[in-house]
Amino acid sequence: MSLSLTPIDRAKYAAARRAVDLVEDGMKLGLGTGSTAAWMVRALAERVKSEGLRLTCVPTSVRTAELGRELGLKIVALEDAGWLDMTIDGTDEFDANLTLIKGGGGAHLMEKIVATASDKMVVITDASKEVKTLGAFPLPVEVVPFGWQASRMLIEELLGAMDVMGTQASLRMNGARPYITDEGNHILDLSLGRIGNPRQLSLALNQVPGVVENGLFIDICDIVVIGFADGLVELRDIGEGTIERERIIFEDTNNIFRDV
Ligand code: 5RP
Repeated sequence: MSLSLTPIDRAKYAAARRAVDLVEDGMKLGLGTGSTAAWMVRALAERVKSEGLRLTCVPTSVRTAELGRELGLKIVALEDAGWLDMTIDGTDEFDANLTLIKGGGGAHLMEKIVATASDKMVVITDASKEVKTLGAFPLPVEVVPFGWQASRMLIEELLGAMDVMGTQASLRMNGARPYITDEGNHILDLSLGRIGNPRQLSLALNQVPGVVENGLFIDICDIVVIGFADGLVELRDIGEGTIERERIIFEDTNNIFRDV
């Protein structure tokens, strides 16, 4: 394996490789977005190439669609795929209930739609993203550009009544301009410190006019695969109540690291 990979990338790759082992021939799969999900797309493409798996893949962003196509995966829109067998995606934070904060990469709207249109959601991550209480990572909220300042004021006001520590909502920027999502919206990042009641917060945020979707994933994720730099992976299935550990062998025999 390439020695230039950082320990965090080795951990992400180990998690991605183990999650891709869950994929079976003929599946319709949701492909997440972000650096961990990109490792998963590469590992998946390797399996498709070496085993001739026939998969139909639905991406959660333009970035993931481009990577998948480049690596030879069959990429279709969710509208054409219908229901999916499984979605594999990264996360920004997760807790013991597998409640997630997602959207650090700005794709949580499509990620949530794709994950909830799947029989199963598998999250792949390194160990640093596990938290006791969610909220150290700013919570992304996608809002329509029209009147986004009014939406922000309403959000900051409602945060005052929620079980959180902070109430600041910052417009995500891309250089000097507001960040634009694949769906043409803006993102407000909420600095909350801690989220005492994720379900109440999620419901309240989605009631604010202009809010399209927030980055809390509640009762959506079934399995988390945690990777470590030495190749160790831990798979926790909350539905089954099982925990499995194994070690991924990083081999030099494939070309997965070629373009990294
Ligand atoms: C994108 C996401 C990503 O899954 C999340 O930001 C994790 O990214 P990375 O794997 O690069 O750490 O939610 O919207």
